[in-house]
Amino acid sequence: MSGLEKQQRAQTIVGDIINAIRDVLRKHDVTFNEYRAGFMHLIGLAKAGEVPLVLDCFLNQTICDIEMKTRQGSRSNVEGPYFLDDAPMVTDAIKVRGDTLPLLIRCQVKDLQGQPIPDVITDIWFADSNGDYSGYSEDFPKDYFRGKVTTDSDGKYAVMGSIPKEYPMAQDEDGPTGKIIELLGGQIMRPQHVHFKYLKEGYAPLTTQSYFEGEKYLNEDPVGGVFEDLTHQLKEENGVAVLDLDVVLDPAE
Ligand SMILES: [Fe+2]
Repeated sequence: MSGLEKQQRAQTIVGDIINAIRDVLRKHDVTFNEYRAGFMHLIGLAKAGEVPLVLDCFLNQTICDIEMKTRQGSRSNVEGPYFLDDAPMVTDAIKVRGDTLPLLIRCQVKDLQGQPIPDVITDIWFADSNGDYSGYSEDFPKDYFRGKVTTDSDGKYAVMGSIPKEYPMAQDEDGPTGKIIELLGGQIMRPQHVHFKYLKEGYAPLTTQSYFEGEKYLNEDPVGGVFEDLTHQLKEENGVAVLDLDVVLDPAE
């Protein structure tokens, strides 16, 4: 797409967004006081630093759904606000700390024809036993609970991590994002999950997540990111939980 085409597309999309909002205001005869209340809520979201949170909560999965219209491989899922590009390379284990339970993540990455793909760089990141992500404070460096692994000649990797804790998709229930979730009849806790981002030249980048069968918030994810094909029954081998994954990458567009 040329620079001009990008500009025209942006103009069309932004114009349509504004018109869609205007249509809602007209449809409901929104008053000036209601408009101001919404206006102040948006200011509150910005002041609380929750703009990334609220956007990812309500809109990211929609973008993933759009991606899947043209993909045949594994399902794209919400990246969320906690990805960091410069996680350390790891081989056997991702560094964890605190009161965690081990989780062995095993994966084979293939193409649409079923052929293994070697040298796929896979970012893996997940919450600690408090539901927090590393890299967002000085006392919790980013070399914990996140790392990059590489698939071998069989398209496989195996890396030890830990069972992530569920966490709220809002800083607190009474915060501006929490209030919107509550207004819409939802609850703020995300189910336990592990994030993945698969990158390999010649293939479409895949950002996705894995969820666990039987998890208590599985049916009420505020982000709407839970799908059956992303939900896995954990196995147990030698007392350790194992997450086995088969991932299929689409060719680059
Ligand atoms: Fe997450």
